[in-house]
Amino acid sequence: MRPTETVRRLAPVDLAALSALEQAASADPWSPGQWRDVLADADSRVFGIEREARLVAHAVLVRLPFDAELQAILVAREARRQGAARHLLAAVIEQARKWQSERLLLEVRAGNQAALALYRHAGFGEDGRRHGYYPARNGGQREDALLMSLPLT
Ligand SMILES: CC(C)(COP(=O)(O)OP(=O)(O)OC[C@H]1O[C@@H](n2cnc3c(N)ncnc32)[C@H](O)[C@@H]1OP(=O)(O)O)[C@@H](O)C(=O)NCCC(=O)NCCS
Repeated sequence: MRPTETVRRLAPVDLAALSALEQAASADPWSPGQWRDVLADADSRVFGIEREARLVAHAVLVRLPFDAELQAILVAREARRQGAARHLLAAVIEQARKWQSERLLLEVRAGNQAALALYRHAGFGEDGRRHGYYPARNGGQREDALLMSLPLT
């Protein structure tokens, strides 16, 4: 992330920018309806980073009883490896602490090396695995989900 960029909370007015980012960069884009629901939900937060007035990264956090869950994090391809996800994760952790969540939870494809490295560096540990949880991609086989958590208390 560049020094002038900041993480901000996104709102329903950001729906078109979120959809554009998803269509360009996500292997499993959410529908506009899913975005509308999460942006309107009092127990959810969507964070974003803009560069030259264009949304280049987002993260979705949901409050659960006791814990919080990171439901998505995505960085535009040309903006990767510049610290954007690390900064979004810091904002997510700060919000989960404000909610007094005990843990930050997430699920990740077992083969997603970039995301796994990001989460391990942030201090997440592995709690378990769901075998064959994710549908196959690119004609391959179904993929395991790793369940990870970061203690916050
Ligand atoms: C995973 C993802 C969000 C990382 O975003 P990013 O902005 O590139 O990550 P950062 O630049 O903040 O990287 C932080 C750390 O994560 C790790 N990391 C990130 N990308 C990596 C990669 N391709 N390979 C290895 N480690 C990686 C590194 O430890 C990195 O620190 P470093 O650059 O100092 O070595 C991004 O690759 C992405 O959008 N992927 C597609 C969507 C996705 O898989 N989301 C996660 C779903 S669970």
